[in-house]
Amino acid sequence: MRGLKDKIVIITGGLGDLGYASGKRLVEEGCHVALFDQKADLEKAKAIGCQSWQVDITDEAQIEKACLEVKEKIGPATVLVNSAAIFILKSIDATPEDWDKMTRVNIRGASLMAKHVVPQMKEAGHGSIINFSSVSGFVGQPNFSTYTATKFALRGLTRGWATDLSEFNIRVNTICPGYIYTSAFVNSCKDLGLDIEEENKKASAMHLLGRQGKTEEIGSAVAFLASDDASFMTGSDMVVDGGYLAR
Ligand SMILES: NC(=O)c1ccc[n+]([C@@H]2O[C@H](COP(=O)([O-])OP(=O)(O)OC[C@H]3O[C@@H](n4cnc5c(N)ncnc54)[C@H](O)[C@@H]3O)[C@@H](O)[C@H]2O)c1
Repeated sequence: MRGLKDKIVIITGGLGDLGYASGKRLVEEGCHVALFDQKADLEKAKAIGCQSWQVDITDEAQIEKACLEVKEKIGPATVLVNSAAIFILKSIDATPEDWDKMTRVNIRGASLMAKHVVPQMKEAGHGSIINFSSVSGFVGQPNFSTYTATKFALRGLTRGWATDLSEFNIRVNTICPGYIYTSAFVNSCKDLGLDIEEENKKASAMHLLGRQGKTEEIGSAVAFLASDDASFMTGSDMVVDGGYLAR
């Protein structure tokens, strides 16, 4: 894809399935990628040619320090991928603590990241922010409303930031995956004592293409949004859902 060579990229939730797949693809395209995650796993990051920072995105001081370190060690970041999220799946039974946890990572964390990366983009004269929303940012799903609310919010932030940052040549878009076959899917089946194959069949049937997505299919969409091939896209939602929302 055009314009990706030597771009400096920060990905939050970079050791999670979709952040990691995005990092892998962007390195293949010639980017220098910093994975931010609350977990530490230097070897896992190194295995795909990325660098790794242990950062809790609920803590602004940690974000600020890590962003400055990226700038000093690699250079000014011009791509930010906000992939980190937590998954508390509740409805009207959600507690104040549930709401605080969800909003602190999924909304406030993404926003604080933008606050500290955008100055580097302004300095460079261009940038692309990619916020992970979801099909859950478009429709209601049973017992999902805590998560759904944060994924709708990211679509709202995207429109607001696109408006504020267009004059600095900074594009802001969401990526909205359908169900992706990830280790989180497999582990949640195991935790709930559910049959993985059976659950995969049920999830697959929700998509027109008759399967869950693959992590690399999200990585390629992220690479597109980060690249100059998406130069006329801002304030948009890129739905990569195998036809989930079309039904
Ligand atoms: N997997 C799917 O099917 C799917 C579908 C639609 C949208 N999404 C979205 O894609 C994104 C990535 O999902 P995933 O499947 O890779 O999830 P994941 O759980 O594999 O990865 C999330 C990562 O975020 C990190 N994280 C959580 N809290 C953090 C914090 N406070 N500071 C720093 N890092 C933190 C976790 O350590 C983890 O590595 C999420 O925003 C999710 O909402 C996923």
